[in-house]
Amino acid sequence: MEKKWWKSSVVYQIYPRSFCDSNGDGIGDINGIRSKLWYLKELGINVIWLSPVYQSPNDDMGYDISDYQAIMKEFGTMEDYDHLLEEAHTLGIKIMMDLVVNHTSDEHAWFVESRKSRNNPYRDYYIWRDGKDGKEPNNWGSCFGGSAWQYDEATDQYYLHLFSKKQPDLNWENDAVRKSVFDMMNWWCNKGIDGFRMDVISMISKAPGLPDGTVGASGYGDFGPYSVNGPRVHEFLQEMNREVLSQYDLITVGECSGVTIEEAQKYAASSGEELNMVFQFEHMDLDGGESFKWNHRKMKLTELKAVMSKWQTQLYEKAWNSLYWCNHDQPRIVSRLGNDSPAWREKSAKMLATCLHMMQGTPYIYQGEELGMTNYPFSSLEEFRDIESINAYHELTEKGILTPEEMFDYISYKGRDNARTPMQWEDGVQAGFTTGTPWIAVNPNYKEINAREQIERADSVFHYYQKLIALRKQHDIIVYGDYELLLPDSEEIYSYVRTYGEQKLLVICNFTDREIAYELPEAFRNRKGEVLIGNDKRPEAKEAMALTPYEALAVLY
Ligand code: NOJ
Repeated sequence: MEKKWWKSSVVYQIYPRSFCDSNGDGIGDINGIRSKLWYLKELGINVIWLSPVYQSPNDDMGYDISDYQAIMKEFGTMEDYDHLLEEAHTLGIKIMMDLVVNHTSDEHAWFVESRKSRNNPYRDYYIWRDGKDGKEPNNWGSCFGGSAWQYDEATDQYYLHLFSKKQPDLNWENDAVRKSVFDMMNWWCNKGIDGFRMDVISMISKAPGLPDGTVGASGYGDFGPYSVNGPRVHEFLQEMNREVLSQYDLITVGECSGVTIEEAQKYAASSGEELNMVFQFEHMDLDGGESFKWNHRKMKLTELKAVMSKWQTQLYEKAWNSLYWCNHDQPRIVSRLGNDSPAWREKSAKMLATCLHMMQGTPYIYQGEELGMTNYPFSSLEEFRDIESINAYHELTEKGILTPEEMFDYISYKGRDNARTPMQWEDGVQAGFTTGTPWIAVNPNYKEINAREQIERADSVFHYYQKLIALRKQHDIIVYGDYELLLPDSEEIYSYVRTYGEQKLLVICNFTDREIAYELPEAFRNRKGEVLIGNDKRPEAKEAMALTPYEALAVLY
């Protein structure tokens, strides 16, 4: 297998709004990030994925961009950005930018022009259609509720928006759109950035005719079959690769909801014609249900293992995996898959980290995950800031699909704001995030969970992540070894073996709060393995072990 720097990297995602505020306005900013680079260096990561820092009216917190070549005022200036890039590079840390080009903001100059008249030169930058029988052009629903079409009186047509109505979809069929996007990407690359995380890139190509979708519980049609992994998406990405990506030494990851193994083998093929890797969603969707993700279900461990193992084995040597539990769209993993009670929070956070970081692929850590940060204890709707949760709450309760109590419970558990509460730096005012009033409340558990305390304590979650990252640098087997699942039917234990040449790495994780018996597989009996990492005080793997609650262990043979 070809060795590449991005294969052995560990990426850390920064959600700038919630990371560190340097000027007391309650909103994180670029100078705040600069002031914390030492922390990332200490943790040991070598790539930052920076969620959008571009100019934006923040309808979707920066994922609605009004100028791709300007920095959001609240975040600072382009000069601040240039300093950040330079300082990160000095520390050996690369920066991967978020590329949001399925849509722009409705305040982007292209859209401002586009909506002016039917024959404006920018009209075809977006997807405009006539209504059908006085209604929307088709029945698609948007990801943030309601129709995916917005009527615009000025020209008596509708524009498509798969997300909010302030996020009109770009028309990738238009050569000029692709050229403008590629020019913008080249501009950033020439600045010296190191890669792109591509927002919903699997959705840029829409099926001709934009056919109606199957109507779901929301009353709207599903656009999925007609705009996820659409007919020209690979052609567009290959063109992007030729025009931009192949000109530089970049790390690229496509956010690809709805991606299958077969599609991923194309997006992230080892031949390198498109992207380095994709974010797949199958594991994150396991606890979804009829009303999209809104419920309080727990994933079944057997299902999780089946999905993870499928990706581990079926991309091996064909394409490259990304590994993640968390990002700015997901609730906190320790509250979701682990146990966030004081007794088990740290141990289960370390177990989850072991389980993921010993797998094959490039791991992504989301800010605060390395501290075992938890979901927020929401008590009222007013505490939410995220358009997705707020819209879904209104839509599903007003239609009588879920009761207000149910929906409040679900958005509290699954809502994206759980990930977006401020980073917990210390046990002082506002957890050290800001000297002002934070744009979203700090989790009250910052007194117990904060970076300063964990850096000082050798057995903290922080130091555990630090060790996992260091191990990946030391052992090629973690990066390049193959993967085999053990005990597929166990609802308690996740155990797998990595193999690389003569070496084997046995990983054992107890996903329960109970003691569970584990028998060492035949192949490892009477052999002396080296415990690379573990979250309990077990010095060696024995033939028969009583795993303690949430115990995790990785043994090298
Ligand atoms: C995916 C991003 O991760 C999410 O935060 C955003 O709301 C949508 N794409 C729309 O850009």
